[in-house]
Amino acid sequence: MLTETNGSWSDRMASLALPLLDAATVAAARCYSWIGRGDKIAADHAAVEAMRAHLSTVPGHGVVVIGEGEKDNAPMLFAGEEIGCGQGPEFDLAVDPLEGTNLCARGWPGAITVLAAAPRHTFAPIVGFYMDKLVVGPAAHGAIDIEAPIEDNMAKVAAAIGIKVSSLQVAVLAKPRHAELIARIRATGAGVVEIPDGDVMAGLASLVPGGGIDLSAGIGGAPEGVITACAVRLLGGDMQGKPAPQSDEEREMVTDAGELGRVYALDDLSESDDGIFVASGVTGSTALPGVTVSRDGFHVQSVLITRDQGLLRIGSTVRD
Ligand code: FBP
Repeated sequence: MLTETNGSWSDRMASLALPLLDAATVAAARCYSWIGRGDKIAADHAAVEAMRAHLSTVPGHGVVVIGEGEKDNAPMLFAGEEIGCGQGPEFDLAVDPLEGTNLCARGWPGAITVLAAAPRHTFAPIVGFYMDKLVVGPAAHGAIDIEAPIEDNMAKVAAAIGIKVSSLQVAVLAKPRHAELIARIRATGAGVVEIPDGDVMAGLASLVPGGGIDLSAGIGGAPEGVITACAVRLLGGDMQGKPAPQSDEEREMVTDAGELGRVYALDDLSESDDGIFVASGVTGSTALPGVTVSRDGFHVQSVLITRDQGLLRIGSTVRD
């Protein structure tokens, strides 16, 4: 149960928005010199270091509930790590300092720095590394069912949006596990936007006008699922997830936790309306331009999503 002390939870959470925006922005700027350098570990490390430094000063007491370190053995902010200066709201943090490490290393579009915060104990403490996901924007709220065939979901999403199934653009991670999914989507006449990595960005593109994606589908990281869910909830879209273990060990872990076969509704993944979602572009994509540099410093484009403000696009310059 959340307790109120000074001001409403909404007000207190809102005080986190700009410090979190700063953390994502500076992390993106620090990734600039790793774009296209072929070293995803170094790129991730640069983002982690920058974010960690900023998060230590955030006004509040946060606990990292979603990190990515376990899957990738990456130098991440670990689950359970406490952050913030202690004065302010208690909050959950779901963070991916560099989402799309490979995209950054190869200079491909879609790498972002991203974090999401919400009142304490309102993000799902996901077990397992992979999750099957469906994400749609507000127009298709209520039209998805992850237990139904993809063709049925596409028919309902197209009807909700008011376009033909063959006009849909569906984002899917271009991974061998999705060969059948991609073939089935294309068999309906719809388009598949194959992305090499970065399904948080694909989810965001499904939510924002002009993002070019109507539905994001398939198996990606479970932590990325919770981060995405925060944005989906704030923007009135819809999302469902289901554990999708990719190894015997992971299956055993998910089974032991009693989660195998569980369907996560949007509320299960991100329970509060008072979340904050921040993403800054590292390598540019349709929905979010990447970092550029000039004599004035690094120019970073971000999206900040809160309940009261909706989605704000913010440009910042970070000096050396
Ligand atoms: P990283 O930033 O950790 O490299 O993750 C990128 C990503 O593509 C995510 O967007 C996605 O959810 C996940 O990896 C998919 O994992 P995998 O590449 O193992 O299929």
